[in-house]
Amino acid sequence: MNNLTVVDNPLVKRDITVLRNKDTRPADFRAALGRISYSIAVEISKNFQLNEIEVVTPLETTIGYELQKQVVLVPVLRAGLSMVNSFLDMIPEAKVGHIGLQRNEKTLMPEDYYYKTPKDIGSSVTIVLDPMLATGGSAAAAFKYLKERGAGESYLACLIAAPEGVKKMYDEHPDIKIYTAALDRELNEVGYIVPGLGDAGDRTFGTF
Ligand code: URA
Repeated sequence: MNNLTVVDNPLVKRDITVLRNKDTRPADFRAALGRISYSIAVEISKNFQLNEIEVVTPLETTIGYELQKQVVLVPVLRAGLSMVNSFLDMIPEAKVGHIGLQRNEKTLMPEDYYYKTPKDIGSSVTIVLDPMLATGGSAAAAFKYLKERGAGESYLACLIAAPEGVKKMYDEHPDIKIYTAALDRELNEVGYIVPGLGDAGDRTFGTF
């Protein structure tokens, strides 16, 4: 499917191995996750448009560049928070929104219990951060809410994707380009990605 880019880099492959290892402790897990997030931020940024500006060096005036559009990072709570700092290191001028999703017990559909993004999201580049693209339910819902509030050019940054989630995103949001560090085999019967890395939020925050 042409909505997916798997970042192909030896350091990323090494770090995904660190994340997969069940014996990796939260501090090392967070560090590897942060390094992978840098690479994904760089890959997504290849889409950014630039404005030419003048810059005055100590020697003369020359041409420089600035990002054409404001960038808005939107971590999906809670695991998406783990990717924010690396993206902010690479794009320090970015703003950060947040989306919290939970399942409606009646409809069984994800709905937002928390939503806060900047008002100018329509003219910005939006990057949703969500490390595990499993069923795709949360990611698809996040983009539904963002589009309802006017989001335009948008990307999804994740660490591990399952084919089921990639397909769901393609079916519901074919305009959204997904960037991941690995495409895994499948979902198991309880919705975990296999081989995967387990629960990304628990492993990041040590809540197991
Ligand atoms: N969320 C996770 O944290 N891990 C999975 O494997 C699937 C969803």
